[in-house]
Amino acid sequence: MTKHKIVCWDCGRDVVDMYANTCPHCDGLLTIEVDLEPMKALKPKDLHREPIGVWRYHGFMPVDRKHAVTIKEGGTPLYKTQALGAEVGVKDLYVKYEGANPTGSFKDRGMTIGVSHAVEIGAKLVGCASTGNTSASLAAYAAKAGLDCAVFLPAGKVAAGKLAQAMFFGAKVLSIDGNFDDALALARKMAERRELYLLNSINPYRPEGQKSVLFEIMDQLSYEIPDRIVLPVGNAANIWAVYKAITELMEVGWIDRMPMLTGIQAEGSMPVAEAFAAGKEDFVPEENPETVATAIRIGNPVSGRKALRAIYDTGGYSTSVTDDEIIAAQRLLGRREGVGVEPASAASIAGVKKLREMGVIDPGEKVVCICTGNALKDPDTIMENSDPVIPCANSLEAVRKALSVQ
Ligand code: F0G
Repeated sequence: MTKHKIVCWDCGRDVVDMYANTCPHCDGLLTIEVDLEPMKALKPKDLHREPIGVWRYHGFMPVDRKHAVTIKEGGTPLYKTQALGAEVGVKDLYVKYEGANPTGSFKDRGMTIGVSHAVEIGAKLVGCASTGNTSASLAAYAAKAGLDCAVFLPAGKVAAGKLAQAMFFGAKVLSIDGNFDDALALARKMAERRELYLLNSINPYRPEGQKSVLFEIMDQLSYEIPDRIVLPVGNAANIWAVYKAITELMEVGWIDRMPMLTGIQAEGSMPVAEAFAAGKEDFVPEENPETVATAIRIGNPVSGRKALRAIYDTGGYSTSVTDDEIIAAQRLLGRREGVGVEPASAASIAGVKKLREMGVIDPGEKVVCICTGNALKDPDTIMENSDPVIPCANSLEAVRKALSVQ
């Protein structure tokens, strides 16, 4: 196994408790220090013998691959956009399509590592709070591992595809009378009592798997470092995971500069973007977050402080986009590139368009948008915002009339 230790991100002390989600000394956030000495002797292409995907990068992961619970996650396409880039005014615009993961979102990257670790330490019941994707992913990986699974979802605010997945894979699905932040507080109480092994991203093993998206982007760009990586921010762990991957590639000497990490939030749910605008290192939680992008409808992001560090340290940026801008961007990506993403993922595209117009993004930059989840996750939002279906009688005449064929 790759040598590693859990340390407190706030006070720096070692944490030996494998179940801890926060520091026993100061209640700070945790992180994992992986011993990267063996990787320093290698070059990126030395890993190319293994298929692309999370486990290609096992030398950066704190779990023994002998225990891997995997459904072949990662290895998602990186598209060089054509019409979309021209439309938003950034010629070198790429989309990393995380909707191609086994359960349709980037969460599978973290879950293969998190659930493998849960098996290593003998957990019986795993669980998470979720706006939907984490629960869909955990339910699938728990099924694969043969573990019991409970998911805590904000009632009425989880997109249909995600809810169906959690039910389908056999999790106990609790519909909590509250928002995501309330559901997470409850799941954390169960975890503190050791009655559930928590697999939210506050668990430091989860972001470790999520680092792999950055390793893949670098491989797919043949190590030509992009100027900027843009991604949606909800509970704020993914942007931190990408940052951690960047710092590790710097440490092993595979890259020598950092892409500017740019976090996009929805206007009704934007504590990180607000903190950035004020130049603060901490954020003020939002009491009643609201947005069509239900995946990132989060007012009190657990990793918000880590996200701000990632943004400041890379010279990046954070801003918010409106629901209308999100829907327009989702549609643009679909109609111009044939790529279907869910609303939260489209926030990254909407963010590029806005920051280009503001002059924050230069037209000559090489920009990668991480599009985190598949369009099929949220069919209702798509149907509400598309042209209606055309009722049509069962006759050639009616078809020709409906299609305006003269
Ligand atoms: N995009 C999608 C599609 C998501 O599902 C999430 C988070 C994010 C972006 C934001 O990532 O939280 O690491 O900043 N979804 C979580 C969930 C909260 O429960 O599925 P983050």
